[in-house]
Amino acid sequence: EQVGKVGVSCTQIPLLAIEYEPPRTKSFKTVESSLRVDAVASAGFKISRTKLGSMISSGDVRVNWSLVSKSGATLKAGDVVSVSGMGRLKIGEIVTTKKGKYVIQLIQYL
Ligand SMILES: *[C@@H]1O[C@H](CO)[C@@H](O)[C@H](O)[C@H]1NC(C)=O
Repeated sequence: EQVGKVGVSCTQIPLLAIEYEPPRTKSFKTVESSLRVDAVASAGFKISRTKLGSMISSGDVRVNWSLVSKSGATLKAGDVVSVSGMGRLKIGEIVTTKKGKYVIQLIQYL
C-alpha cells in the first residue's frame, strides 16, 4: 500500500503483460597480458592506459560502484567497471591462453 511515503496500489497481471525492454548490450573480446583494471578498461573504453590511469587518480573509475584507488587493482568475471562520462562494462568470461594471456569478454551497456 505504500512505497516510502507514497501510496501505491497493486494489481496482479500475467507475466507476459509486463512491458520490459531488456538492456541493450554489445559483447566483444580483448586479449590482455594482465587483468589490471587500467589494462582492461582502457581496451574496453578505447582510451589510452595513461588517460585511464589519470581518470583513476581523479576518482572517475568504479568497480561495482566502489571507487577504484589503484591502477593495479585486478578484475574478475562479474565485475562491473564504470568510467564517468564513458559508460559501463561488465566483465564476462575470462579464458587464460597457453601463453599466459587472458581473453576477456566485455559486455558494454549501450
Ligand atoms: C562485483 O559484483 C559481482 C556480481 O555481484 C561479484 O561477482 C564480484 O565479486 C564483485 N566484485 C567486487 C570487486 O566486489
